[in-house]
Amino acid sequence: MSTTKGLEGVVATTSGVSSIIDGVLTYHGYNIDDLAEHASFEEVVYLLWNHRLPNREELSTFKKELGEYAEVPKEIFEQMKSYPISKVHPMAALRTAISQLALFDAEADDMGESSNRKKALKLQAQISTIVTGFARIRQGKEPLAPRGDLGYAANFLYMLNGEEPDEISVEALDKALVLHADHELNASTFTARVCVATLSDMYSGIVSAIGALKGPLHGGANERVMKMLSEIGEVDKAESYIKDALSRKVKIMGFGHRVYKNGDPRAKHLKEMSRQLTGITGEPKWYDMSVKIDDIVTNEKGLLPNVDFYSASVYHSLGIEHDLFTPIFAVSRVSGWIAHILEQYENNRLIRPRAEYTGPERQKWVPLDNR
Ligand code: ACO
Repeated sequence: MSTTKGLEGVVATTSGVSSIIDGVLTYHGYNIDDLAEHASFEEVVYLLWNHRLPNREELSTFKKELGEYAEVPKEIFEQMKSYPISKVHPMAALRTAISQLALFDAEADDMGESSNRKKALKLQAQISTIVTGFARIRQGKEPLAPRGDLGYAANFLYMLNGEEPDEISVEALDKALVLHADHELNASTFTARVCVATLSDMYSGIVSAIGALKGPLHGGANERVMKMLSEIGEVDKAESYIKDALSRKVKIMGFGHRVYKNGDPRAKHLKEMSRQLTGITGEPKWYDMSVKIDDIVTNEKGLLPNVDFYSASVYHSLGIEHDLFTPIFAVSRVSGWIAHILEQYENNRLIRPRAEYTGPERQKWVPLDNR
């Protein structure tokens, strides 16, 4: 048996959801650059789940359905109020709340196609209500009811802040959601597929995926990027901070990628958004500092920024609390997880690889009293 550490380069399944070929990312054949420029998040979700873009009427129905399913059972927020909320990370709260959602869905274990489609809509709609509800509860405020008349990104910002967001913020969040929606067989998506390949239910698949996304080597990196920028504080302190970190072999969050060696195609969009938004907020230092770090890490290590690097200053500029960055990643990526879960169900086989044994052999049993 031969092993490949971290399954690098291993092709573990076939998929028609998204592809990364020669450094080009597509969702069902549509280049991410086109989608970032033209598509709304709802169009992208429809594409991922239905393998085609919606027409005007289909899109309008789909948005309406998302709006209709967005309210969560009141018990979810009642439970949240009993969490030790000042110590709970929003990703942990999200993982728990999605698991609880399943308890209030009579169809949670129904594996029928129409039931799974309904669960997909509920999960996509309600994850936004949960993330924003948690953010408000820990501020001592009541969660806000979703507004069906607003688009997905606008409704998220409304439920978070309690006021109708401006157009620039909505456009920026919408584009960020488009850019994060799917990414082939990334760690959390693979986790979701492994889970449901046992014929476990969709909620379990999403809970597993949230657990995988939470880690700093995956989605958890975006929050840590902002932590690093805040620690550095000023542009002229970036060089010594980064060079010192690299000399101590500390990983710089938001750089490197298992698949992209010539750059993450999503990063340039987020970089431009960061430039624009930090200019608008009057805090260009976050963009300038990010560019400086980008130059140093590229020159010193040959590593390029991934999707998480510039998204940090984008979300910060939207006034979003730093520990909500990864939950926002989940709000978007749940669409991709669901697409992969549906695909897995359609053509399922248990995912059960092997391990090369490296432990001791032929051990002699020692009775308890002799140990
Ligand atoms: N900073 C400094 N050095 C790095 C970084 C980094 N961000 N990334 C990789 N390296 C170095 C490693 O130390 C290693 O060096 P060595 O060969 O001297 O030991 C070499 O580059 C190869 O790195 P690996 O960790 O083996 O690469 P792998 O493909 O396993 O990891 C990963 C990819 C996890 C993304 C890695 O680059 C990393 O930890 N980056 C920082 C965390 C991050 O930004 N994660 C988000 C990724 S995108 C996403 O999931 C949404």
